[in-house]
Amino acid sequence: MVFDVITIFPDFFSSVLEHGLLKRARASGQVQIRLHDLRDFTDDRHRTVDDRPFGGGPGMVFKPEPLFRAVESVKAESSGAAFPVVLLSPQGRLLTQAVAEELARHERLVLLCGRYEGVDERVAEHLATYELSIGDYVLSGGELAAAVVMEAVTRLLPGVLGNEESSAQDSFAHAAGPVGKGILDCPHYTRPADFRGWQVPEVLLAGDHEEIRRWRRRRALEKTWCKRPELLASVALSEEDRKILEEIKHAALASAASGRGDA
Ligand code: 6GU
Repeated sequence: MVFDVITIFPDFFSSVLEHGLLKRARASGQVQIRLHDLRDFTDDRHRTVDDRPFGGGPGMVFKPEPLFRAVESVKAESSGAAFPVVLLSPQGRLLTQAVAEELARHERLVLLCGRYEGVDERVAEHLATYELSIGDYVLSGGELAAAVVMEAVTRLLPGVLGNEESSAQDSFAHAAGPVGKGILDCPHYTRPADFRGWQVPEVLLAGDHEEIRRWRRRRALEKTWCKRPELLASVALSEEDRKILEEIKHAALASAASGRGDA
């Protein structure tokens, strides 16, 4: 996988590239990350990448020419198949695990780091194949979002994660992360069993694997129902899951009722 990142802050990426997963994947040659300074694709003395918005208003807008030229230069260097051009912008479609999986099927991705104030709309319309946002909040530029996309995509590439942490493990109920099985992960604990008087749940210490599996599934469903109930609508639930959810709802109703003093 080759990532071509087009940015006005190429140095921004040094720390994310030099730690953890992205560092390892680069060292092993599984990914290559090429940073391109958008200003190298300007043609004026001041290397101008932005201009005032037509129609007035605050802030500056990225000009289209440098972004088009930068992508065309990447295209000219790569002989292979067509590749997606991803514009990072708060107006984009939300990045989800499904989108990351789709992106991971390509051999090359161009990431265009926009800026919050705006990018000339002709970039979204005629240059980008994807416009992606990483969440409903405001960032000043697309650089952090580009780093998020690279990390999310890289960990899906075959052989990048070891067996221990393999994303395939997400298919086991006990390891189901927020996206592996579509619901939130269960709680995890490590030693000490008693930390400042807070105990690790007894079931995890007792060693009954079937009990542990059921407990983890229940806690994962509880967390999801409390914090991200919308996830439950789009996940395949087993008969056992439905039964557990009914119990969770009954318990919640009962405790709400007792809280009002009319139990
Ligand atoms: Cl991709 N860019 C900016 N500027 N803000 C964001 C974002 C992207 N995703 C969420 N907020």
